[in-house]
Amino acid sequence: MNDLTKLHARNVTITYPLKDGKEVTAVSDLSLKVREGEFVCIVGPSGCGKSTLLGAIAGFQPIKHGEILLNGRAIKGPGRDRGVVFQQASLFPWRTTLDNIIYGLELAGVDKKKRRERGEELLHLVGLDGFSSHYPYQLSGGMQQRVNLARALAIEPSLMLLDEPFGALDAQTREYMQVELLRIWAATSQTVILVTHDIGEAVYLADRVVVMSARPGRICETTEIRLPRPRPLEIKRSSEFQAYEAHIWMFIAHDSEELREAN
Ligand SMILES: Nc1ncnc2c1ncn2[C@@H]1O[C@H](COP(=O)(O)OP(=O)(O)OP(=O)(O)O)[C@@H](O)[C@H]1O
Ligand SMILES: [Mg+2]
Repeated sequence: MNDLTKLHARNVTITYPLKDGKEVTAVSDLSLKVREGEFVCIVGPSGCGKSTLLGAIAGFQPIKHGEILLNGRAIKGPGRDRGVVFQQASLFPWRTTLDNIIYGLELAGVDKKKRRERGEELLHLVGLDGFSSHYPYQLSGGMQQRVNLARALAIEPSLMLLDEPFGALDAQTREYMQVELLRIWAATSQTVILVTHDIGEAVYLADRVVVMSARPGRICETTEIRLPRPRPLEIKRSSEFQAYEAHIWMFIAHDSEELREAN
């Protein structure tokens, strides 16, 4: 990792219009810097604006105030420099695994032979050799999420945006996917921003965990995770790991108490 700034969100406010002409502020005056090659996890209570922020970085979500700079340039819309995995699995049911993965390459006009080669490489990277002609319904939830990852990786984005990518998986598959994701990250030198509500997952994966406060979302804590890499799963049982979890919990619990008092 180096110290180059990959992403810089400066005083970002994002609102949604309501039917009565009013608006709801989802993200308020939020600032965040992410270094090139860094793995950042964002945690925070439901509805605090995590997906909204990720949508703005992806370029789908307009910003009311402030700006988000990617490689020093303001984000104006979606682009191939960012790979996105949404909260819900979003594969095309009528396309095979391979055809799902290479969809972005098709749009980009990459020729058929190259697309296939790249698709096969990615299938291998996410551990799905032999599944190229399966349809999504023939895959388990964990496999579908791996296809989603491979599809986002296909366009070789320098920034990966992952919104609860393993939220729908059982605990065991989820741990397996965490290990896989770290392996892929180590092999691709990308910058990753991952949203999760699982604090253990955040500590295990991240170089830095960012905690967002309840709506309107802003950052209330940033913790550097100084656990050595590669990280075996057993690290989750170490006292150092659990101390990080407890520290982050404190900020989220405190935030929920304030919420209860306010209501
Ligand atoms: N399309 C929309 N119209 C109006 N309000 C919205 C819209 N989308 C989100 N919001 C509001 O903005 C706030 C932030 O929503 P967002 O989906 O970003 O939260 P989140 O942190 O991702 O939550 P979760 O952990 O449940 O996924 C919420 O209060 C939500 O009700
Ligand atoms: Mg969300």
